[in-house]
Amino acid sequence: MQQQKKIKISAVVGTRPEAIKMAPLLQGLSAVPSIETHLISTGQHHSQLEQVFSFFELTPDVDLKLMKKNQSLNDIAYKAIKGMDRLLEQADPDLLLVQGDTTTAFAGALAAFNRQTPVGHVEAGLRSGDLMNPYPEEANRKLISAIATLNFAPTYVARNHLLSEGIPPSTIVTTGNTVVDALYSITSKVTDLPEEVSRAITNHNRVILVTAHRRESWGKPLADICAAINELVYLFNDVEVVFPIHKNPKVRDVVFNSIVEHKRIHIIEPLNYFDFISTMKHSSLVLSDSGGVQEEAPTFGVPVLVLRKTTERPEALTVNLSNIVGTNTEKIVKQASKILGDTQRAAQIAKSGNPFGDGRASKRIIKAILAWSNGKVPYLNEDESFVYAELETSDG
Ligand code: UD1
Ligand code: UDP
Repeated sequence: MQQQKKIKISAVVGTRPEAIKMAPLLQGLSAVPSIETHLISTGQHHSQLEQVFSFFELTPDVDLKLMKKNQSLNDIAYKAIKGMDRLLEQADPDLLLVQGDTTTAFAGALAAFNRQTPVGHVEAGLRSGDLMNPYPEEANRKLISAIATLNFAPTYVARNHLLSEGIPPSTIVTTGNTVVDALYSITSKVTDLPEEVSRAITNHNRVILVTAHRRESWGKPLADICAAINELVYLFNDVEVVFPIHKNPKVRDVVFNSIVEHKRIHIIEPLNYFDFISTMKHSSLVLSDSGGVQEEAPTFGVPVLVLRKTTERPEALTVNLSNIVGTNTEKIVKQASKILGDTQRAAQIAKSGNPFGDGRASKRIIKAILAWSNGKVPYLNEDESFVYAELETSDG
């Protein structure tokens, strides 16, 4: 009997969140006999990315090793496009998967499009509506949508953005976010605070978990966030701040110059994914400008104050799981104090569930890829799509 030709899928990642969100999908794809996968790392990040590869036991087939201190967005983009062009020529995949909105994702998608290789966009359709917030990610994701063949929208909110931009409905599949699949793969194993954190803090104190790295916050906005942290530990004597700091020197310089030395403020190196999630689970409040963190915290009912002007993840706001506070010191302190003063709130929001996904996004994406490859439409039936009942309707 003639053997069926395998579908060749390349996937490209370059930064920590892309690797976390692509990991469950890659694991799922590698279990399908009719699919052959090939993982490319641009190496846009180094240690933060290696932490994820090692945790999920992923080994890229090839690494472009692009990371360099203080390089421009165009440096990364041009090197990624050039490197991807060569790799795509060698691998000649039937589909290139990109995730999210980084320079790696955009450059990968453009390199594939220029070679007429179909692009599958994981986490398609997120929009803040402001090209400069987040910068350059809002532009990157819109540009990818314009050239993608398959659009894996996490929610109906994202799907509706794509529809309103004229993206053909037949190319859009509503899947849930793979970040929740990654979370579900570890949540049953998460028990205590990681040793590194529990050693540093006083027993029974409440934890505020902080992350901040966005380009549009470099400089004064980040210093203002730090000023709020300084104030919060003086206002609440049972609160410990745990701040795993991004490797970017532009972030580190400001944070190290702005945070006061205080026994209840712990600036630590990036935690591995498991330890980060364990810390999140035991936190009373998260202050963050991270996209992934906004999507993860609802699983544990931990309130998030979003340290940004806008968010492309309104699902959590709508059901009162997060609030946008921006970077103004006074506003952050006021909102954080409100949450820390209301111990009932966490218990209430814990019941809402996670509006971003249900742990089955990768399964839906794989099913849709197989249908696409066999020319079967729709790629996923409406009743198989991800729906967060409290929020979304298909005609949105
Ligand atoms: C990038 C993405 C952003 C994503 C973020 C996740 C773009 C334009 N930005 O931002 O969308 O939210 O990753 O973290 O693609 N560095 C290290 N080690 C590391 C990682 C970074 O030293 O493991 C330092 C390097 O000096 C590097 C700098 O951080 O040059 C900035 O990294 P870069 O990928 O340019 O941008 P991010 O701000 O991390
Ligand atoms: N994360 C981690 N260790 C840390 C901080 C974050 O593993 O010290 C994880 C977190 O769980 C989330 C992702 O990294 O899944 C978010 O990455 P980041 O904030 O760098 O990027 P963004 O989500 O803003 O694009």
